[in-house]
Amino acid sequence: MKRADKYAVFGNPIAHSKSPRIHALFAASLNQHIDYEKRLAPLGDFAGELQRFFDEGGVGANVTVPFKRDAFALAREASLRAQQAGAANFLMWRGDHWYCDNTDGAGLVRDIETNLQVTLKDKNVLLLGAGGAARGVIGPVLLRSPKQIVVVNRTANRAAELVAAYENEYAASALSVADLVDKGIKFDVVINATSSSLSGELPLPDSAEVIAPGALAYDMMYGKQPTTFMTWATRQGASRVADGLGMLVEQAAESYVQWRGVLPQAAPVIAQLRAELASG
Ligand code: ATR
Repeated sequence: MKRADKYAVFGNPIAHSKSPRIHALFAASLNQHIDYEKRLAPLGDFAGELQRFFDEGGVGANVTVPFKRDAFALAREASLRAQQAGAANFLMWRGDHWYCDNTDGAGLVRDIETNLQVTLKDKNVLLLGAGGAARGVIGPVLLRSPKQIVVVNRTANRAAELVAAYENEYAASALSVADLVDKGIKFDVVINATSSSLSGELPLPDSAEVIAPGALAYDMMYGKQPTTFMTWATRQGASRVADGLGMLVEQAAESYVQWRGVLPQAAPVIAQLRAELASG
């Protein structure tokens, strides 16, 4: 029997990664056989670990913190959205070189529009954060033609830098936290792309009134319990709140289809992971 194609997720740390589980569930649902493992790359030597993986027969990889920029730099060919993000979470061996892509933004958009049934077109969107997570999603969100996207970050100049690449072509702008609060603008979709929930903090002052009636508040983080941001958004009147588990599964589906030519169904896998999270 032919050996199963070999994939992996690279990160540091990596023990917590759900990617092997997600891809195993995809493969089972499609009656395919793949070999997908976790690889702990040493800090400062992503390239060496990728080479070892390749030498062992690896043909595709996902890449997570802190190696997404390294993956982009190392690939000889990059999708437009990876170029825009300057970072890649996806690698695929193409005969004689690595090709990279960034499927995070497409995963977020598909979770919002398909799973949560919220269209982004003509919406007022607030994107909180200006780090790697925000950079990875802003392009694909803008391609859905929101009315405007306002980027707000604790360190205001990072938001301005992120928006600079988009403000001429799209309705994208940056505001400081203080200006956002002063202006009193309300948003239909509020996306938390900061890592504030990791430390149980909020990316905005508790009293900030930015949630429009009927709004969706989306935290790209996820956990067993609703995140600090989700609890806050509910208190502020958001109609719907969501965490990033759906995005995680959808970005994986976007990877799977490129490696294997068939798009797995994400919804049953999201439900399965949610159940495992609750019981684990
Ligand atoms: P990532 O790849 O997860 O985006 P990052 O590039 O380190 O990681 O960026 C983290 C983001 O979360 C930044 O936007 C950061 O704000 P700063 O640019 O001001 O550092 C934001 N962030 C992290 N903790 C935060 C907190 N407690 N409150 C507000 N923003 C926070």
